[in-house]
Amino acid sequence: MPNIEPRKILVTSALPYANGPIHIGHLVEYIQTDIWVRFQQLIGNDCLFVCASDAHGTPIMLRARQENIDPGELVEKFRKEHIRDFAQFRIRFDNFHSTHSEENRLLVEQIYRRLDEGGFILRKTILQAFDEEAGMFLPDRFVRGTCPACGATDQYGDNCEHCGATYSPDDLVDPRSVISGATPVKKESEHYFFKLTAFDAMLRQWTSAGHVDDSVKRKLDEWFDAGLRDWDISRDRPYFGFRIPGTDDKYFYVWLDAPVGYLASFRQLCDSAQGKKSRLEFDAYFGENSTAELYHFIGKDIVYFHTLFWPAVLEGAGFRKPTGVFAHGFLTVNGQKMSKSRGTFIAAQTYLKHLDPEYLRYYYAFKLSAAIEDIDLNLDDFVARTNSDLVGKFVNIASRNAGFISKRFDGRLADHLDDEVLYAEFVDAGERIAEHYEQRNFGRAMREIMGLADRANRYVDEHKPWILAKEEHNLPKVQAVCTQSLNLFRVLMIYLKPVLPGVAEKAETFLASHESSWADREYPLLGCTINPFSPLLTRIDPKAVEEMVDASR
Ligand code: MSP
Ligand code: ZN
Repeated sequence: MPNIEPRKILVTSALPYANGPIHIGHLVEYIQTDIWVRFQQLIGNDCLFVCASDAHGTPIMLRARQENIDPGELVEKFRKEHIRDFAQFRIRFDNFHSTHSEENRLLVEQIYRRLDEGGFILRKTILQAFDEEAGMFLPDRFVRGTCPACGATDQYGDNCEHCGATYSPDDLVDPRSVISGATPVKKESEHYFFKLTAFDAMLRQWTSAGHVDDSVKRKLDEWFDAGLRDWDISRDRPYFGFRIPGTDDKYFYVWLDAPVGYLASFRQLCDSAQGKKSRLEFDAYFGENSTAELYHFIGKDIVYFHTLFWPAVLEGAGFRKPTGVFAHGFLTVNGQKMSKSRGTFIAAQTYLKHLDPEYLRYYYAFKLSAAIEDIDLNLDDFVARTNSDLVGKFVNIASRNAGFISKRFDGRLADHLDDEVLYAEFVDAGERIAEHYEQRNFGRAMREIMGLADRANRYVDEHKPWILAKEEHNLPKVQAVCTQSLNLFRVLMIYLKPVLPGVAEKAETFLASHESSWADREYPLLGCTINPFSPLLTRIDPKAVEEMVDASR
């Protein structure tokens, strides 16, 4: 093992809203993050992965009302479902908490107090749309009406989906409350603002210092040019959230306490894992002078929250800032937005009824890069690509060679490799592949690995063990060739392990190997006995995909 200290890394995925099922769009993010985390662990880094349910806000409050249950209960129901869905896709969190938790409340209050003491909280009276029938203030999204530009009816308060015009809710013709249908009135209310403008210089510096990718940086520059504005962090009752200390009827806006949920989930992990030492550990990750690395994986729609509000809040409250914020694009299916009518709005559970999660993990890995561009799941390509790469190339290496070892040699591998030079090439390729994983260029990693799989198959074709095996005197050569092939397969299995944890586990059982690490690829399996081969992964039947789409309509 190289003599270097493992890196101490904490990773998060965005916290899914606890009011709907996980779908294949979400999974782009959770699979992407999980692959990166598993890679870090495989190369020996100390890498933790936490997440939580995003529990607060108006939509969750209203949905709970509709179902006539307590919002806390609604959130718990979805939290359990999400935990199950993620586990079935082999997304391996170290902790999955909730923003509606005691840990989060304490942290949010602490952060708010520090911001207030620092002079970063302003109080201002604003005019806001109010629904007199429902007795509540209306968020912009809850006012709809006729577009002032083109006359399209039933448009949002801030932009028109028909003609694309943007405007303020005041400009809407015939505005209506989405909740009661009443015409909103204007009402005054005191709101609390976070002084984002005080962090302009720090944010310009931070976003230019390599914490975000170039594509994100360009977006940020537009926002800086447009000018930052102070951020309204309060909401009036009724609201499902944490009450602002010192008030009776003001609540923290969900987006203030949501990212704090990253800390809360980690705090809970520390508390459960190490008892008394926990506080120390927590500070080692989140204290101002922390040397741990902190990465947030997010979708492109929530960049503003994570690269402006969040670093500013952390700075203002005396916590460390993220090492990196990694934004990915959105999923399209067959080139279009996911849609219920086309059957492409596919829930995680629906997918699992029809297909193995490893296929989707591989396809997303194949498609993913560090760019913020959208990624397309073309269903025909999905079937062709996974069948050809995973079954036709990768698993094929093992299935072509395993039979000879178990039938002719009692499962025993030869004591030496047939081609050490070729083996060394496979080992060396690990440097490049590791670099691609590290940089989140998973697609490039997959292409490198499949190039090696082609090479391994060519080796088998060149040596033709099935012909050699016809003559008794060739048997030592057969054993050496199959041993070589299976060891090449094993190296590829290690390279694919972050993406295909299920297949890798089965392969390790087949190879009678302990849980292998990245470094283990340097030591081939020789002179040991392996288990009989059973299929590691079968081809996708295109019918299963059709049925999944039908079931999603
Ligand atoms: N609750 C907020 C995040 C708070 S983080 C402090 C939220 N939740 S979400 O459920 O809407 O989305 C969770 C993550 O999934 C986000 O990063 C979002 O960008 C991502 N995705 C949701 N739909 C997606 C696609 N269709 N495609 C790719 N990613 C998608 O946002
Ligand atoms: Zn319009």
